[in-house]
Amino acid sequence: MPTVLALETSCDETAAAVVRDRTVLSSIVASQIDLHRPYGGVVPEMASRAHVENMGTVMATALTQAGVTWDDIDGVAATCAPGLVGALMVGLTAAKTLAMVRRKPFLGVHHLEGHIYASYLTDPGLNPPFLCLLVSGGHTSLIHVKGCGDYAVLGKTRDDAAGEAFDKVARLMGLGYPGGPIIDQLAATGDATVFPLPEGNISLPEGGFHPYDSSFSGLKTAVLRLVQSLQAQGIDPLPVADLAASFQATVARSLTKRTLRCALDYGLTTVVVGGGVAANSGLRHHLTTAATAAGVKVLFPPLKYCTDNAAMIGCAAADHLHHGHISAFSLSAQSRLGLEAVMGLYG
Ligand code: KG4
Ligand code: ZN
Repeated sequence: MPTVLALETSCDETAAAVVRDRTVLSSIVASQIDLHRPYGGVVPEMASRAHVENMGTVMATALTQAGVTWDDIDGVAATCAPGLVGALMVGLTAAKTLAMVRRKPFLGVHHLEGHIYASYLTDPGLNPPFLCLLVSGGHTSLIHVKGCGDYAVLGKTRDDAAGEAFDKVARLMGLGYPGGPIIDQLAATGDATVFPLPEGNISLPEGGFHPYDSSFSGLKTAVLRLVQSLQAQGIDPLPVADLAASFQATVARSLTKRTLRCALDYGLTTVVVGGGVAANSGLRHHLTTAATAAGVKVLFPPLKYCTDNAAMIGCAAADHLHHGHISAFSLSAQSRLGLEAVMGLYG
């Protein structure tokens, strides 16, 4: 049961955690949301600088709270891809330095593999194969999880990620940033049947629609046109709660349909959800209801493990270390990397 110190700096959270196998001994997250809010999105250069400022404290707190010494740590890990390169480099360089100085194995971890591993923290008895619906600010994927480092991406978005769609729709409705939690809260008081919106199907050249791929840019444009038309009719204030509820229900329906179809086609009886949008109450409700009816088990991690954190990175690293997978010190940060290439990070 390896114990790992893990760092995560791929976007706008500076995070450190100590994880033993599938148990979190400590998990510290310093969010930069307030720093980026005035800009309506993450400013990469500011994110890197803030990671440098926060990393020392975050890491020291994680070690203290875990109550471990360096003798207890079997490896040091950091997210190395995908993400903002300047931001990734902060955690990666810190992890490499510590591993060198303390003479411990170093592991680079794929950020999306971390989101998958959040489910093992939630249910330590979980075992592959299962389907993971990964819905974050940068990704929307349906992943067949076959084992440690063994993944097949069966479905993806053709344009915007689900979280990106929430953020863009919130912006065009004049709401704040990040949009997901704001829309989620507003949707609770709105009527989802007021504005019918398009789900965004991907047409296939041979006819019909792709069963697992999604598209959210058409939905975003439909909301934009709707808002413009309501404004042209002089409707003020905008019915933001009904708009939010209609948009959220459309996203939730679209993701639920594709996820269940994929799970049933591949004979997978467990679906786990990862990424920031897994926090969405509409998605939780739709997917849980439909999956229960179809006899499929669904697992949603608690909120703290849905959004970016280092505990999920530590859990993935502990499993790789257990399998003898170790990264070279020459491993670099990469802005893009497919999940199928995860094993290229080791050996
Ligand atoms: O996984 P995450 O923390 O960072 C990435 O790796 O992208 O996801 C952030 C995304 C943002 O787009 C945010 O708006 C969205 O997750 N999000 C939500 C909710 N909470 C966060 N989207 C919908 N409903 C929520 N409750
Ligand atoms: Zn993430």
